[in-house]
Amino acid sequence: MGGARDVGWVAAGLVLAAGACYCFYRLTRGRRRGVPGLRLRPSRSAEDLTNGSYDDILNAEQLQKLLYLLESTEDPVIIERALVTLGNNAAFSVNQVTIRELGGIPIIGSKINNPNQSIKEKALNALNNLSVNVENQIKIKVYVSQVCEDVFSGPLNSAVQLAGLRLLTNMTVTNDHQHMLSSYITDLFHLLLTGNGSTKVQVLKLLLNLSENPAMTDGLLGAKVDSSFLSLYDGHVAKEILLRVLTLFQNITTCLEKEGRLAIQPTFTEGSLFYLLYGEECAQKMRALVYHHDADVKEKVTMIPKF
Ligand SMILES: *[C@@H]1O[C@H](CO)[C@@H](O)[C@H](O)[C@H]1NC(C)=O
Ligand SMILES: *[C@@H]1O[C@H](CO)[C@@H](O)[C@H](O)[C@H]1NC(C)=O
Ligand SMILES: *[C@@H]1O[C@H](CO)[C@@H](O)[C@H](O)[C@H]1NC(C)=O
Ligand SMILES: *[C@@H]1O[C@H](CO)[C@@H](O)[C@H](O)[C@H]1NC(C)=O
Ligand SMILES: *[C@@H]1O[C@H](CO)[C@@H](O)[C@H](O)[C@H]1NC(C)=O
Ligand SMILES: *[C@@H]1O[C@H](CO)[C@@H](O)[C@H](O)[C@H]1NC(C)=O
Ligand SMILES: *[C@@H]1O[C@H](CO)[C@@H](O)[C@H](O)[C@H]1NC(C)=O
Repeated sequence: MGGARDVGWVAAGLVLAAGACYCFYRLTRGRRRGVPGLRLRPSRSAEDLTNGSYDDILNAEQLQKLLYLLESTEDPVIIERALVTLGNNAAFSVNQVTIRELGGIPIIGSKINNPNQSIKEKALNALNNLSVNVENQIKIKVYVSQVCEDVFSGPLNSAVQLAGLRLLTNMTVTNDHQHMLSSYITDLFHLLLTGNGSTKVQVLKLLLNLSENPAMTDGLLGAKVDSSFLSLYDGHVAKEILLRVLTLFQNITTCLEKEGRLAIQPTFTEGSLFYLLYGEECAQKMRALVYHHDADVKEKVTMIPKF
C-alpha cells in the first residue's frame, strides 16, 4: 500500500520536474526584445506554460506555480520574467487578492534585496501594482524602510530609484502608513533638489500626499531644507513642477491654518522648511508669480491662503 503511494509520489514528482524543465527551457530561449513576462495561458497544459499573450490573466493555480518558480530558481532571467508576469497580473484586483492569499507578497518582497538592480526594480514594480489593495498594503509596509534606504542611497535618477519612489507614493495614498516616512523627510527634500525632472515630479507626488495629512505637517515644516528649494518657485520652472510646489505650499498652509497655528508663532528652527516658506524671499516670489504667463499658475498662487 505504501509502495503504491510511493509510486504515485514519484510519478507526480517526475511530472513536476518535467514541467519545470520544459518551463525553464522555454523561458531561457528569450525570443523577444526587452524583458517579456512569462507566457502562461489559462486552460492550457504545462507544455503551453509559456505560450500565451502578454496580458493573459492567470488563474490561482498558475499564479501558485509562478510563485513556486520564483521562490526556487536562482536564474536572474527567470526571476525577472516571473516578477514582470506577477506584476502585470497584479494589475487586476482579483489577482491582488489571490497573490496575497497564496503568500506571494513575502516571496516578491524578498526580491527587493536582490543585488541585481534590474530584478530589484521589477520586484518594486510588482509590489507597486499589489499595493493598490488596502489589505496588501498592510503586508507591504514591512518593506517601506528598506525601500526608503534604497531610494536614498541608490543611483540618482535610476529606474530602480523611480520604482521605489512610485511604490512609496502609492503606499501614502491613504494616511495609514505615512508616519513610516517621518524620518526620511529631509532626504526627500534633498532628492527633490538634486534629482532631474522625472525624479522631482515623483518626489513631489509623494510630498503632496504627505502635505494633505495634518499629522505630517510638523514633520514637513521642521525638516532641514536647503535654501535652493525656493528656486523651485521661480517663474521659469517647468509647469508640472511649479504647480506641484505651489500646491505643496497651499496644502501645508491650509493644514496650519486649520489648527490655528499660524497665529501662535510656531517653534521651528532656522534652516527649516517653515523658515523658507514663510520668509520674505518666498513672499517676493509669490508676488512675482501672480503675473505669471500661465493662467493655472496664476490661479494657484492666489489660492494660497493669506496669513
Ligand atoms: C502558441 O500556441 C498556438 C496553438 O496552441 C500556436 O498556434 C502558436 O504558434 C504558439 N505561439 C508561440 C509563440 O509559440
Ligand atoms: C541582472 O539580471 C538580468 C536578468 O534579467 C541579467 O540579464 C543581468 O545580466 C543581471 N545582471 C547582473 C549584474 O547579474
Ligand atoms: C502594473 O499595472 C499597470 C496597470 O495598472 C500595468 O500597465 C503594468 O504593466 C503593470 N505591471 C507592472 C510590472 O508594473
Ligand atoms: C498608484 O497610484 C496612482 C495614483 O493614485 C494610480 O494612478 C496608480 O494606478 C496606482 N497604482 C500603480 C500600480 O501605480
Ligand atoms: C532623468 O534621468 C534618467 C536617467 O538618466 C533619464 O532616463 C530620464 O529621462 C531623465 N529625465 C529627465 C526629465 O531628464
Ligand atoms: C495621493 O496622491 C494621489 C495622486 O498622486 C491621489 O490620488 C491621492 O488622493 C493622494 N492621497 C492623499 C492622502 O493625499
Ligand atoms: C491639497 O491640494 C489639492 C489640490 O489643490 C486639493 O485638492 C486638496 O484639497 C488640498 N488639501 C488640503 C488639505 O488643503
